[in-house]
Amino acid sequence: MKSVQLSSVISDKTSQSFWPAGVAYINHQLVPIQDAKIPILDWGFLHSDATYDVAHVWQGKFFRIDDHIDRFFAGMDRLHMDCGLSKAEVKQVMVDCVVATGLQDAYVEIICTRGQPAPGSRDPRTCENQFWAFAIPFVHILDPAKQGLSVIISQRQRIPAASVDPTIKNYHWLDLVLGLYEAYEQNAESVLLVDSAGNLCEGPGFNLFVLSGDRLMTPKSGVLHGITRKTILELGVAQGLDVCEMDITGVMAAEADEIFVTSTAGGPMPVTSVKW
Ligand SMILES: Cc1ncc(COP(=O)(O)O)c(C=O)c1O
Repeated sequence: MKSVQLSSVISDKTSQSFWPAGVAYINHQLVPIQDAKIPILDWGFLHSDATYDVAHVWQGKFFRIDDHIDRFFAGMDRLHMDCGLSKAEVKQVMVDCVVATGLQDAYVEIICTRGQPAPGSRDPRTCENQFWAFAIPFVHILDPAKQGLSVIISQRQRIPAASVDPTIKNYHWLDLVLGLYEAYEQNAESVLLVDSAGNLCEGPGFNLFVLSGDRLMTPKSGVLHGITRKTILELGVAQGLDVCEMDITGVMAAEADEIFVTSTAGGPMPVTSVKW
């Protein structure tokens, strides 16, 4: 058995081996994922009062880890949260979690929750914000054995940016999950939601791209600024494509040469059928 060098404190019952099913960082300790528990009164659980980020490790290397950590800290800042760790410490926890799994390909999530208010209080300023992290085996949105994703365009609106800013990565996912059920009813695998004007936004865990000729388009607003989206925008410019962040209608998507979605959970993924 290989030994695992960790800078964080690990619980003694597990210090000798990897935990390939996953590892969580809770209360300054690494624990097997199945032992990871959060307090029921944390507002992260009760109110979705949290921000998070997900990075991936592929063949033993993190992809754009600093971009993920920067986005996480920007989100906390705007939510009046402080996870109590520096960016370097958060990065170390992420590395430690992955090392402790022994995995080469992993899905690594960092979370800051509001925490619990003082007894009897409903004032978020009395909460001590909490930091959590975990690494688990890589999660694919698109089954790697499949050629592409079938999606529907739902008329369900993504939570508007004026309510919850989608550039702060958040757990307001009920619109996305209900959209998924609509997709399953129509024998599709996933869903794209729209904004209040009917323009396409994003789906459960991914951004959208539409290619028409040499014009590569992605929705401009009402979406998370995905790290994979950012990478594709950079690659599009490098390829000499006419890259545009703009409003995209369902008709534009239907008439496009290609549609694909992008996510940490799978990179760029072709869309092979669209229904609406
Ligand atoms: C709502 C939403 N949009 C887009 C994305 C894609 O972002 P990224 O490329 O950073 O994974 C995600 C990722 O989880 C997401 O949750």
